[in-house]
Parts: sequence; structure tokens; C-alpha cells
Amino acid sequence: MCGIVGYNGMKQAAPILLDGLEKLEYRGYDSAGLAIRDGEKKPEVVKSKGRLRILSEKTNNGAAVPGNCGIGHTRWATHGEPSENNAHPHISDDRCVTAVHNGIIENYQEIRDKLKRHDYRFYSATDTETAVKLIDYYYKKYRQGPVDAIARMMMRVRGSYALAVMFDDYPDEIFLARKDSPMIVGVTDGETFIASDVPAILKHTRTVYYIGNMEIARAGKGEVTFYNIDQEEVEKEPVTIEWDAEAAEKGGFEHFMMKEIHEEPRAVADTLNSLIHNDDIDLSESGLNDDVLREIRQIYIVGCGSASHVGYAAQYTIEEMAKVPVRVELASEYRYRSALPLDNTLLIVISQSGETADSLAALRIAKERGIRTLAIVNVIGSSIAREADHVLYTMAGPEIAVATTKAYSAQLAAVYLIAMKLAFARKAIDTEEFTHLLGVIQSIPDKMTRVLEDKERIQWFAAKFSNARDIFFIGRGMDYAIAMEGSLKMKEISYIHSEAYAAGEMKHGTISLVEDGTLVVGICTQQDLYEKTRSNMVEAKSRGAYLMGLTTYGNYAIEDTADFTVYIPRTSRYFDAVLGIIPLQLLAYYVSVSRGLDVDKPRNLAKSVTVE
Ligand code: AGP
Repeated sequence: MCGIVGYNGMKQAAPILLDGLEKLEYRGYDSAGLAIRDGEKKPEVVKSKGRLRILSEKTNNGAAVPGNCGIGHTRWATHGEPSENNAHPHISDDRCVTAVHNGIIENYQEIRDKLKRHDYRFYSATDTETAVKLIDYYYKKYRQGPVDAIARMMMRVRGSYALAVMFDDYPDEIFLARKDSPMIVGVTDGETFIASDVPAILKHTRTVYYIGNMEIARAGKGEVTFYNIDQEEVEKEPVTIEWDAEAAEKGGFEHFMMKEIHEEPRAVADTLNSLIHNDDIDLSESGLNDDVLREIRQIYIVGCGSASHVGYAAQYTIEEMAKVPVRVELASEYRYRSALPLDNTLLIVISQSGETADSLAALRIAKERGIRTLAIVNVIGSSIAREADHVLYTMAGPEIAVATTKAYSAQLAAVYLIAMKLAFARKAIDTEEFTHLLGVIQSIPDKMTRVLEDKERIQWFAAKFSNARDIFFIGRGMDYAIAMEGSLKMKEISYIHSEAYAAGEMKHGTISLVEDGTLVVGICTQQDLYEKTRSNMVEAKSRGAYLMGLTTYGNYAIEDTADFTVYIPRTSRYFDAVLGIIPLQLLAYYVSVSRGLDVDKPRNLAKSVTVE
């Protein structure tokens, strides 16, 4: 949530910052702002409400604010409505301290009251302004310099933050602080780049430093020094990011979401290839050996949104294939529940960004409870990846569209391999079955490409339902897990109300919402449940529903029931979700496009939810 960028070098800062903010717009886009230093002059602050484009126009693409050092921000409002006044950067009254912030200062009200007693005035409704003025207060009171003032602020505030701060007295430096919100620093010859996330600086450098929790950094031109909260210098090794800059561009597609849907076969293939070696699944890099796998008595899977839907699909696969009990929990619920884990429980946390606040908190709580943790994460070096006992990276590459597609599929591929490895280590499947499944799973990327070839039909169908009021997605078993993800995709980018329902549950209440023409999408990829779900579709049709069927090639009798059908190739009953989701992603995409909506940046949402 909220995107932060910073630049300190020899070039004009504003155009570089605007370009970086554009790459981070998926983190928030209700307002944006820049603060630029031109030598010794006080920082020039420009802010605007709305999309980044407005800020670019206001600054003549950055040309109107000269200077070689600056910070920028794109906002997802937490405290205070989206407005120019609440947009970042925030400054102290005499413009001594200027800062941008991502996160939430939980005790901002009490600090604000204290500062008011010291004659500070507040002009915005944000918690950020409080942090800025608290730094200013300590800076002037103790006169020990920026690092000291920031360290004192960090001791005083509760909550989460990534802060980029400029001090009037230090025209050539940007100071950074971080707790539970991501921030990286890239250093090249004479230049320093700061960002909340990798895509913003990929085109400048792939060598980055991760600022640790409760650390401070002092970023000069082409150099950076790190400090712990006691203001002692910390040595750090840079990390090389393997993603290339092209991966963060649209590459000829109209939207990132469509580009990322087309990248799904590659994302799944790369994830599989990173873990399949010599006809075996190799989890050794994550430290999960067969002895550990054999000991596991129970698995918890936690995540938020789509990541939790991967968990529901994984639950069916793991329980059925490996015979290990699995419990899926929303991270936001798990963290406030007294879960009673058995001995030898494994908690798997799934997250594309690796920064989702609730997922990170759930991971920490599990570790406090002595539970072994495994992270399935897409972003290398993210907080969840660094804190989990074991890490398994998905190879989806940077995902920019707010609605996840390729990361979801890559996560499914990863959990399928875990299920197989677990099943084999525990002798729930034999060598023959393991080898067979290995062949099947490796055929998935080509089959995904085949599903994508059917997109024009889905586009045609989507146009008919662009004005739907309600859409229901129904399925049983694994198909219910796909339904949840299909429904989330639809509602987040089309703003049409949609619900996922276990097909057998429809007649326990929800079917009363079905009227003439209501679209009901019946998902029947599981052969043993196909007839059951089809019957539930017929029940909906009898109440006026318009039916879309999603099933595997061969189940052609569904056309007697459904008004429109999409077929996917067969894989194995364990893996069908990864093909079944693609038509639903395409359906949501095309409905959103035909409604003229901003597919990649749906209203009210941000890609990386770093607040609770
Ligand atoms: C999915 O389309 C959503 N944007 C959202 O549900 C997302 O999956 C969720 O916020 C979790 O994010 P993470 O994978 O980065 O932890």
C-alpha cells in the first residue's frame, strides 16, 4: 500500500521519480506528490488528488520542479480522505523536515495531542503528518542530527512504516526508516534509488539493499549507510534481482492484467522447472527434506484474498494425495484466534508480495507458537520470505495488475509439487503414481496455452453480461475453490456483485436471489462431482438463471444444460484448478473492459496490503 520512491544523484530527480511512481501505482492511486531539492534551496513540494497522470501534467512531466534529489509518493488512503491536503509529502511548519510514508502510525492521536501542547499545528487528517512533526520535534530538541531524531521517533510510535525523509540542513541526503513496510535501496555509480518495490528501480539497477526491520538508512549520492535503532552502523550485502526491466512493462498489451494472464504458462513452467530436477521434486533449497515431511501431522495454510483461495485448492489436493489433514485460515482471522496446533504442524503462508500485513503477522504468531513455517512467496527478499523457516519462491516475475493472475497460478503449481513430494515421502503414492503425476504436471503449461486460445469466445460472452447485477459461481470440492477465485476476480475489477457458492449450498438460501437472466457459472472440472454440480445448475436454470458451464473436454452433455460452455483440457483431478481459473480470469477481464473500467487499478484497492 502506498508507493514510495526516492532519487539522489546527478540527473533531474522529478522525471525519474514520476517514472518510478508509475511503476508503483498499483500500490495506491488516490493522490500523489513529490518533494524536490534544488541544491541548498528548501524542498519544492507538489501534490495532486487523483491519478499520477494529474501530477505529471501539473509538473510538466517533472520539468517544472528542477533538482537532483527528491522523494515521491502515490497514496492509498488510510487516515484522511483522498485529497491534495492529505497527499504526501508532508512537511514541518518551517519546512525543516519533509517526508513520505507508507504504513499506519497507530498512536498518532496521542502524539498529535502532545505535539499540539508544544505549539505544533496540523493541516491534514493523516497519521503521517504526526510522524513528520515528531521527527522535527526531536531533531530540534536534542540537536543530534537526523539519524538520532528518526531513531527517537521510531521508539515513540507504534504501527508500521516505511519513511523517506529529507532535512533542510542536509540537502544531499535522504534518510529512511522502516518497520513492517517494505523499502529497498539501489546504488549505482553516483546515484541512489529508493523504492517500496522492485519494479520502480529495475530499469536503473538490479543490485539492491533491503532495509531491515527497525533500521535506518542514510542515502547519499551513490552511497548508503545503514544503522540499527541504537544508531550503530550495520553492514549489509546487496542482493541481485533476477527480474529484467521488460517484465515490468505492458509489452504491447492494453493492460497488465491481460499480459499477465498470457504469462501464466511461463510462470507455471518456470516455477515447476525451478523445483523439478532429474525427474524428482527437489525442495532442498528450502530445507524441507523427506525426514521433515514425514514428521508432519497437520498443515495450516494461511493467506489473504487470492492466496487464501490457493490454500483452499491445496487443501483438497494435499488431503487427498498425501493424506495429511489441512486447515485453511484467512491470515487476518488466524492471527486473532487461539489455534491449537498439534505437534509437528507445518504452517504454510502464501503471498505474492511477501509483505501483506496480516499474513506476516500470522507467520510471526506461528513462529512464536513454535510452529515450523514455510513461505510460498513471489518477491525475493520480502519480509515474509526473510522471516519464514523455509521459503519456496514462485517464478511469476513482477506482477503489476492489482488483480492477481499469474502469481495465483504459480502458487498453485508450487503447492501441487509440495503435495506430491509430501505424498511420496509418506508413501501415500508409489513411484509409478509419482512419475505419472510428474508427467501430467509438466504438461500443464502447454494446456494453459490451449485454454488461452479460446479467449475470443469468452470476450463475446462477457460483453453480454457487462451490465449484470449479480453473478454466482458454483462448484463442489476443488471446483468450489476455483469458484471463490473466479468470483473475487469478477467483483474486484468489474464492481459487479458476485458470490462463490458450494453448489450444494445454493438451495439452502442463496437460490432465492436467482431471477430471470441471473448469470450462474457452474464449474464442473472434477469428474466425480460433475453430475452433482450439473444438477445444481439445472435447479438454478429452473429459477430463470442463465448458465455458463466450465468443464473438461469430453463432458459435452453439459450443453443440454448450459447456455454457454467453456472447455479445458484434462490434467488430473488434483491439478484442474490451474486450468479452470483461466477462463474465469478472462471473463472478469472482458466484463471490466466492456464496462470501460480501469482493469489494472480497480477503485479502492491496492496490490500490496501492508496495513491491517
Ligand atoms: C487478488 O486479486 C487480490 N488483489 C488480493 O486478494 C491479494 O491476493 C491479497 O491481497 C494477497 O496479497 P499477497 O499475495 O501479496 O499476500
